[in-house]
Amino acid sequence: MVKDIYDVGQLPPLGELPKYMYAWTIRTDRLGSPNTAFKQEIVEIPKLKEGEMIIANRMAGVNYNGVWAALGKPKNVVEDNGDYDERQDFHICGSETSGIVYAVGAGVTEFSVGDEVCVGGAQYDENCPLIKSGEDPCFSPSYRIWGYEANWGGFAQFSKVKPCQCVKKPKFLDWAEAAACTATGVTVYRMLNRWQGNEIRKGDIVLVWGGYGGIGTSAIPLIRHFGAIPVVVVSSEEKGEKCIELGAVGYINRKIYDHWGDINNMDERQYRHWVAQAGKFKKEIYKIVGEKKDPRIVPMSLS
Ligand SMILES: NC(=O)c1ccc[n+]([C@@H]2O[C@H](COP(=O)([O-])OP(=O)(O)OC[C@H]3O[C@@H](n4cnc5c(N)ncnc54)[C@H](OP(=O)(O)O)[C@@H]3O)[C@@H](O)[C@H]2O)c1
Repeated sequence: MVKDIYDVGQLPPLGELPKYMYAWTIRTDRLGSPNTAFKQEIVEIPKLKEGEMIIANRMAGVNYNGVWAALGKPKNVVEDNGDYDERQDFHICGSETSGIVYAVGAGVTEFSVGDEVCVGGAQYDENCPLIKSGEDPCFSPSYRIWGYEANWGGFAQFSKVKPCQCVKKPKFLDWAEAAACTATGVTVYRMLNRWQGNEIRKGDIVLVWGGYGGIGTSAIPLIRHFGAIPVVVVSSEEKGEKCIELGAVGYINRKIYDHWGDINNMDERQYRHWVAQAGKFKKEIYKIVGEKKDPRIVPMSLS
């Protein structure tokens, strides 16, 4: 018999949903430091609607949007989370997870109970006329980030998701890897594709800032996948060497330069210094790639 609630780490029999679950929630009266804004609570399992699924989460990825949500800045997501769903006085963050499908709502044909899935944060109405006409879902008025703009995110035993967020988990990914690849993967993919004039081509040099960050470490293998040449910018030799292990052809340690800043606000001496340092920086790229060729794409991934 299915219990009302299961300990964290335990799973009910496949396809059987308990009444309650443990979740890390935020509430309006706790907004502020993420250390105190998040609290573990027991809440009811969300009600399933047509076109939705319930996932038993195995791992969840973290994202900056959890910090913003906890701070309540730039907006209070608890107050806003009624827009796409039944209004709740709490919000569950978490915009990427991996897990097992436990229930499917009417109309869901792509997945069945028991499927192992990677869940990304892009949630939208697949029947939106704009999307149906072939437009990028990001431009649909129904587009929202699950776990930030939409409730029932991944920081809970169970989540409510839509099929458009899910892909079947490849066997070679473990649960943690599967929970941490969608947001960065999609973000980087979009930085390299579908931007007129900046679509990645074979042989392109791609300069990746923050090479050993989340976006950067996803970018390096993806750039390689497209037959292009990743050169990374990092803040230490150690991070640079790690990027080389991931496939970067070389790295530039940004700490040896000090010419950053807005050139519009520089006096003549500062500007001359900027030009000299920028020239040195450019020569480092040429040295790494072995020819006088400039980067064609610079995906930005700065915090
Ligand atoms: N992760 C995602 O899925 C995702 C999706 C959409 C948007 N974003 C946005 O993309 C940005 C990066 O995300 P992330 O997950 O890659 O974050 P991250 O893991 O914290 O990486 C950020 C990188 O930026 C570099 N950095 C920090 N300060 C810098 C400075 N002053 N100059 C140059 N580089 C600096 C750091 O590398 P060094 O100190 O070694 O240079 C760090 O590795 C964030 O603004 C995030 O909100 C992320």
